Amino acid sequence: MSAFLLARGIGKRFGAVTALDGVDLEIRRGEVLALLGDNGAGKSTFVKVLSGAHRQTSGELVIEGAPVGFSSPQDAAEAGIATIYQELALSENLSVAENVFLGREETRRILGVPFLRRAAMRRRVKALLDELDSHIPDPALPVGRMSGGQRQAVAICRALNLDAKLVIMDEPTAALAVAETRKVLTLVRRLAERGCAVVLVSHNISDVFEVADRVAVFRRGRKIAERRRAETNPEEIVAFITGAHPSLRAAETA
Ligand SMILES: Nc1ncnc2c1ncn2[C@@H]1O[C@H](COP(=O)(O)OP(=O)(O)OP(=O)(O)O)[C@@H](O)[C@H]1O
Ligand SMILES: [Mg+2]
Repeated sequence: MSAFLLARGIGKRFGAVTALDGVDLEIRRGEVLALLGDNGAGKSTFVKVLSGAHRQTSGELVIEGAPVGFSSPQDAAEAGIATIYQELALSENLSVAENVFLGREETRRILGVPFLRRAAMRRRVKALLDELDSHIPDPALPVGRMSGGQRQAVAICRALNLDAKLVIMDEPTAALAVAETRKVLTLVRRLAERGCAVVLVSHNISDVFEVADRVAVFRRGRKIAERRRAETNPEEIVAFITGAHPSLRAAETA
């Protein structure tokens, strides 16, 4: 699996607070990478650096071999990075299809007047939804009538429609019921199977062990552990998160 993005020595300070300190991480296509860590460990800050919402104070991001400097989320989007935050930023009154195409609607000119290609956009969205097996019956329905899991599916569709190469999800299932969580986790796997790189931030260890190929643990702004899922277990990961892992105690009391 090839690296899509390399983070090298990423640091981020907010005044006197060091939110990130020397984080190295490789993000690969076709792989789900889970970021775990206690509250305030730096996960969301790291995601915001990847998505252009924050500029790092040190270190660099390298995409497909070339260093990049993001000044805005638009810069990251143009580099193929789509971020789905927990507050999804969907428009309640618009349909599923309109949300997927928001800001990049397809138009056709008739006698010089632009018309929205509604039918074509709906067909495209229907195809994406079916591919994701998202259980949304009709892309013409308003998002206001969708459940939490269906909304996540709309946000994922939007990312796919933007041809995202990296999809980042910060706590996508935190507010969802069990059945809805199952569907979103299936969507996460599908994204990776399509060849996307996926970064998943979660506090739910069992969700992480179900979908992630690799797990990175953040603690106090540092990446303190990284494991392939197959070579670790929930107990070890919890010990890293809480700081109880023997390898950490030696370092923290030193
Ligand atoms: N905009 C900001 N200004 C100042 N400090 C910030 C800002 N954003 C984050 N921080 C600080 O940076 C540290 C890391 O926060 P971050 O939100 O990245 O943690 P997290 O791992 O996402 O936690 P959680 O699991 O609670 O979401 C915390 O100490 C936080 O208070
Ligand atoms: Mg967070």
